[in-house]
This record gives sequence, structure tokens and C-alpha cells, in this order.
Amino acid sequence: MAEGKVKVGIIGSQFQADIHAASFQIMPHEAEVVAIASPTPGNAAAFAKRFGIPRVFTDYREMLKERDIEMVTIAAPNSLHAQMTKDIAAAGKHIVCEKPLAMTIAEGEEMIAAAKQHGVLLMYGEELFFTPKYLKAKEMADAGAFGKIYLVKQSEKHFGPHSPWFWDVNRSGGGALMDLGCHGIAFCYFFLGRSPIKSVYCQMGTYVHADKTKAEDDSLCILEFANGAVGLIENSWARRGGMDDRIEVFGEAGVTYANLHMGNALPTFSENGYGYAVEKAPTTKGWTYPVFEELWNYGTPQELAHFARCARGKENPQATGEDGLVVLHALYAGYASAGEGRKIAMPYQPPPGVKKPIDLWLNGPTRAQAAQR
Ligand SMILES: NC(=O)c1ccc[n+]([C@@H]2O[C@H](COP(=O)([O-])OP(=O)(O)OC[C@H]3O[C@@H](n4cnc5c(N)ncnc54)[C@H](O)[C@@H]3O)[C@@H](O)[C@H]2O)c1
Repeated sequence: MAEGKVKVGIIGSQFQADIHAASFQIMPHEAEVVAIASPTPGNAAAFAKRFGIPRVFTDYREMLKERDIEMVTIAAPNSLHAQMTKDIAAAGKHIVCEKPLAMTIAEGEEMIAAAKQHGVLLMYGEELFFTPKYLKAKEMADAGAFGKIYLVKQSEKHFGPHSPWFWDVNRSGGGALMDLGCHGIAFCYFFLGRSPIKSVYCQMGTYVHADKTKAEDDSLCILEFANGAVGLIENSWARRGGMDDRIEVFGEAGVTYANLHMGNALPTFSENGYGYAVEKAPTTKGWTYPVFEELWNYGTPQELAHFARCARGKENPQATGEDGLVVLHALYAGYASAGEGRKIAMPYQPPPGVKKPIDLWLNGPTRAQAAQR
């Protein structure tokens, strides 16, 4: 077995790649980033310079030939996750794949099979399993603080993504539900001890961004779990004012609320503005809520340090490809529910020929009926 720090390669050089590299620097004891691969040469080189990464590649397949790299993180568009995962697995390296796991259920299954075939770990980049404030809520719930839990709510909202590919459903697979709801579905499932999802009901629409996307920019999703609890997931690309992420947990014996951003921020008024408040905040003038230790509060450094320990067999992955696949199944059911205007029982199998989750809503009867009105 290799010694010293786990050597990591990152695919991608923009938003989430930046978070990966910064997270490894925040928790530097387990792993070091030795290579970055991104197709735009200037971007990859600038990224490498910013984080002091020695090796730069424009083709990730070339990076995979580096024998000493043990773990590769994927911070590239959703439509590329499956092929990248299969290539990384074939190169014998452990994989950290960002959410959502893939565009389709079939891709997700192939990714899991490829990791098994090559004897590597497929770890799923769901940082909400590592978010300290949310873990505190889970710790209290597991200790019985709230009695039997009947409702878990999670919501993540902002005014829409930073890169064009998110808005293109052929590259993203869907809108706010796919991009942000994947967190909420995973979180409720995790919080409730991975109780199986029995049904999914979703309502969605494109309320403010119809000029730039076919995707939904707001969604409500209700999950019923086998243990009797309900998950309520609210997501938006239409919510002004920067990132908002929160949970609420209700049980027969108690309740807890956790607001990840405004609840961890310094209520601030500034006439002049200042450098940075929080992810996707449009301004720092007037009343704002600057967060501190943003990545630590999300849990990404803790997540990636854990994955590095898993790569050395010191821990077992707490977020896996299988978790990502459960989420993908629920996403398909969610889009089918919105498309058909009814609750969908799980397990749900999409009809043959459906290329991506959002097609079930875009081509469903509810849209056709709305168009006729
Ligand atoms: N966990 C989270 O909270 C979170 C947050 C943001 C994004 N993400 C996920 O991370 C992934 C990346 O999102 P992002 O926000 O960083 O997007 P981005 O647009 O900011 O960056 C995408 C990167 O992928 C690179 N890329 C594109 N094609 C490539 C190829 N063929 N080979 C190698 N690199 C390629 C681009 O050059 C770019 O550097 C997505 O799956 C997204 O859903 C997760």
C-alpha cells in the first residue's frame, strides 16, 4: 500500500474544482492534489498556479496514466460523469464523483459496475452527509431527542447556476430539482437511516428564467419513506439574495431548525460593500449575511479527507455510488410525477427511450394540457 499522503488528481478547473482544491488545503493531512486536468489550457494552468499544483493536463485521460495518483475527483458537467468514472476505474484509481451521480439510471449502474469490476471505490460527492450543523441534528435525532421523526425538510435555493451548461438540459439532465434536489433527496434518505423511498410527488415550473432554459427553476418534492416519515424538498434557481440552505426536523417529541447560511452569518449592514458575502450573493451593499469558514460549514473538507482515508482502507465510504443511484431513481420519479400530475410509487422504471430525467416532465401530459389552455 502507498504511504504518505494520498495523491489526488482533479478533473475540472472551475467552481467545484476550486472547492475541492481549497478543501484539500484546509485539511492537508490526508491528501495532496498533485494534478489537475481541464480542457481549456489557460484555465488549468491558472488553477494549478493558484493552488500550487505541479502537474497540468488538458486531457484527463493523460492524467490517468500518472501511476502515483490514487484518487481522482470529478468536478465536470453531469453529462461527463459516467465516461470519466469508467475511465478512472479502468486506470485503477478511486473515484470521487460530484453530484448528481450521472444523467441516467443506466449510466449510474454502469459506473457502480465499473468500480466493482476494477476493485476501486466510487464515492459520491454529497457534502450534506458531512455538514457539521446538519450532522448535529442527526446526532440528536439518532439519540432520540425528537422521538419518532415524521417530517424532514431540506431546501437549497439561489438565483441560478454560474455556468451555461447547467441551463442546457442536454448537459445537465434537469433544472433545480436535478441540480439542488439531489442534495435534499440524499439528505432526507441519509437522515432517516436510509429507509427506502416509497413514493415521490413533485410540482415544478419555470417562473423567472424561461428566456434561458427549458428546465424548471423551482420545484417542490415530497418523498414518503418506508419507515413512515416524509421528506419535503424545496429547490429554486429563482430565489434572489444568494445561496440559502436549511433543514427542519420534526418528531413526536421535538423539533430542530438549522439554517446553514444566514444562521451561521454575521448580520451586516454596509454602505460601501466589501469583498465576499456568500455563494452567489449578488451584492455586498446594504444588509447582507457574510458567512465565515464557508467550506468547513458545508463539510466539503471533511468529506474529502474522509474519502482520502477510504482510499487507504482506513474508513468505509459514508457516501457511495449506491447512494447516488437511489437519488437518481427518485429524480426520475420526481420528473415523472410533475409530468403526470400524480404521486409516483417506487420502484419506478422510466419508459424505454427516455434520454434524461427532465424529459419525463417536458414531454409529460401536464405540460401538453397547460399548453392547450
Ligand atoms: N456538491 C456541490 O455542492 C456542488 C456544487 C457545484 C457543482 N457541483 C457539481 O460539480 C460538477 C461541476 O460543476 P461546476 O459548478 O464546477 O461547473 P463549472 O462549469 O464551474 O466547471 C466545469 C468544469 O468542467 C470542465 N470540463 C468540461 N468538459 C471537460 C472535459 N471533457 N474534461 C475535463 N474537464 C472538463 C470545465 O473546463 C470546467 O473546468 C457538476 O456535476 C455539478 O453538479 C457540486
